[in-house]
Amino acid sequence: MKIYLKIWRQSDAGSPGQLVSYELDQVIPHMSFLEMMDTLNEQLILNGDRPVEFDHDCREGICGQCGMMINGRAHGPIPHLTTCQLHMREFKDGDTIYVEPFRGAAFPVKRDLRVDRSAFDRIIMAGGFVSVNTGQAPEANGIPITHEQAESAFDSAACIGCGACVATCKNSSAALFTSAKIAHLAKLPQGKMESGKRVLSMVAQMDIEAFGHCSNTEACEVECPQHISVLNIARMNWEYTLSRILKK
Ligand code: FES
Repeated sequence: MKIYLKIWRQSDAGSPGQLVSYELDQVIPHMSFLEMMDTLNEQLILNGDRPVEFDHDCREGICGQCGMMINGRAHGPIPHLTTCQLHMREFKDGDTIYVEPFRGAAFPVKRDLRVDRSAFDRIIMAGGFVSVNTGQAPEANGIPITHEQAESAFDSAACIGCGACVATCKNSSAALFTSAKIAHLAKLPQGKMESGKRVLSMVAQMDIEAFGHCSNTEACEVECPQHISVLNIARMNWEYTLSRILKK
């Protein structure tokens, strides 16, 4: 396959960026998208050019490090996949592919396709934890909750923090990420005790980081590689309202 690429190149957050055109021959359909990017980088290095910087780690859809806007969609054309799980067989010979970083005021570009997602870390630091020593992992059947509760908490905990929800949201809202972290703890007895304090702190931090508000378009759920449900946002709003009422 021959692929034409238009890739966002930017030296750092303070410099202007632009789309730069590349051509890549002999792309194998079974290559992953990141392997295709590796091939391009090998070609650039051989030509004495600076390779395209992009984040990645596990390349198995687990770590949440990879993330690119591919033809205008977070992680590319297939819903519920990370960029590293996308394969070149989803494109046709002769296709032009636009590759850009995840954009958002809270995600400044570090270089090329790499963005600074440390705003997510600061939201977690604001309250996404249990502050008592819970000891060793307990025997699962010893926790007094139903199987359905455990499954629901696990579904929320599956968020890998890739940032696709922010990149795809017209308001650059981090509501899906933040709510998943709030909900997974609030649904378990270990996290329930601090749920009021937690939701107020994490929502406040979300605002400090300049993420936008949720306006219920639900695009985040469509693109989320982990199928995180917008019901988590409803849970966050309920927890937030309850905490404000109890505080008065
Ligand atoms: S590199 Fe880890 S999820 Fe893509």
